[in-house]
Amino acid sequence: MRSIIEKTFNERFGGEGTMYASAGRINLIGEHTDYNGGFVFPGAIDKVIMADMRPNGTGRVRVFSIDIDDYAEFGLNEADAPSQSWARYIFGVCREIIKRGGKVEGFDAVFAGNVPLGAGLSSSAALESCFAFALNDMFNGGKIAKFELALIGQSTEHNYCGVNCGIMDQFASVFGKKDNLIRLDCRSLEYEYFPFHHEGYQLVLVDSAVKHELKDSPYNRRRQSCERVAARLGVETLRDATMEMLDAAKADISAEDYSRAKFVIEEKQRVLDVCDALIAGDYDTVGQKMYETHRGLSKDYEVSCEELDFLNDIARECGVTGSRIMGGGFGGCTINLVKDELADSFIATATERFEKAYGHKPKIYPVVISDGARKI
Ligand code: GLA
Repeated sequence: MRSIIEKTFNERFGGEGTMYASAGRINLIGEHTDYNGGFVFPGAIDKVIMADMRPNGTGRVRVFSIDIDDYAEFGLNEADAPSQSWARYIFGVCREIIKRGGKVEGFDAVFAGNVPLGAGLSSSAALESCFAFALNDMFNGGKIAKFELALIGQSTEHNYCGVNCGIMDQFASVFGKKDNLIRLDCRSLEYEYFPFHHEGYQLVLVDSAVKHELKDSPYNRRRQSCERVAARLGVETLRDATMEMLDAAKADISAEDYSRAKFVIEEKQRVLDVCDALIAGDYDTVGQKMYETHRGLSKDYEVSCEELDFLNDIARECGVTGSRIMGGGFGGCTINLVKDELADSFIATATERFEKAYGHKPKIYPVVISDGARKI
C-alpha cells in the first residue's frame, strides 16, 4: 500500500511527502457506553489508513483518495466544505483544529487504507486521526495534546458528518498501542493500558458484509433515548444510574427507552467484570459476558440484525468461548474469542452456513492489536 501511495503522490504532486498512518479499532466489550459516561475496552488493530502529505504553500487542500478514486480540492474557511462525503472528514478535521486555535495551511495529500468500510472497525476514526495527527505534526509542531486529537475527530463526526458518536473510536485510534487493550473511563477520561495476553485464544472478526450507515441512522436516536432517561432520573449520564433507579421510574419512561437504559446500565458493569476476569485469566467469564452483551444489543438495544444474530448462534453452537456484535451496530462484524484449536473449524462452519443462508461468504479477519496514529 505504501509504495502505491508514494507513487501516486509523485505523479499527482511531484516529489514526496511524509507518510502518516492511523488504525481502525476493535472493542472487546463496552458498547454504546461511551456517550453514557461508562467504560469501554478497545484496542487499535493492524488495519490502517495511510496518507502521504506535504504543505503546498497555498491556502488550499488538494487530496486524492486512491480507494475511492476521487479528488477533492477545498479552502479552509467554513464556507469551503467539499461536497464529497469522504472529503468532509478531512475538511472537518482541518476546521476543528482551526476552531481550537491550531494552525492549518494548504497541503497536498494522497491516501489509501485497508480498514474495511462499514464493518464496525471505525474506518472513519482512522481517517480522522490520521489527518489530525499529521496536521498536528506538519503545522503545530506536535503541540496539540493526544486527547485533543481524539476530540477533534469526534467533533468532526458531530459537526461535519452527522454522527453524534462518543469518544471511543477516535480515542482508540489515537492512543492505540501494540499488544494492549485500553480501558477508558469515558466520564473521567482516565485510561489504563491492559497488556492483552491471550495464550490459547484468538480474537476473530467475522464480517457479515452487511453495511450500516450511522448517519441518519437509529444510532443518534439510541443516544437520545439514553439522554432522555438520564434527564428523567436526574443524573448527568446513565453512568450514574442504577437498575433500582430505573425501575423506580419505570412508569414514566417508555418501554423502548427503558430497554435502552437497562442495556447501558448492565453493560457498564460487564466491562468491569471482564477486566477482573482478564486479570484472573478467566476467559470463560470474559466469553460469557460477551454473549450477554450480544443478547442485550440484540434484544434491548436493538442494534443487531438477522445476519449478526445468525453468526452469534453459530459461534455458540461451535463452542466458541465468547461472541458478540461489535461497534455501533446495524451490520458489520461479530468479535469472537475462540480457543486456538477451535478457530479453523469455527471459521469453516461459519463461512459455509452463512453463505448457504445469505448467498455470500462472510469475511474473516484475525485481530492483531497494534499501534494507533503515527508517522511512518
Ligand atoms: C460507534 C461510535 C462509538 C460508540 C460505538 C458503540 O462506533 O462511533 O462512539 O458509541 O459506536 O459502542
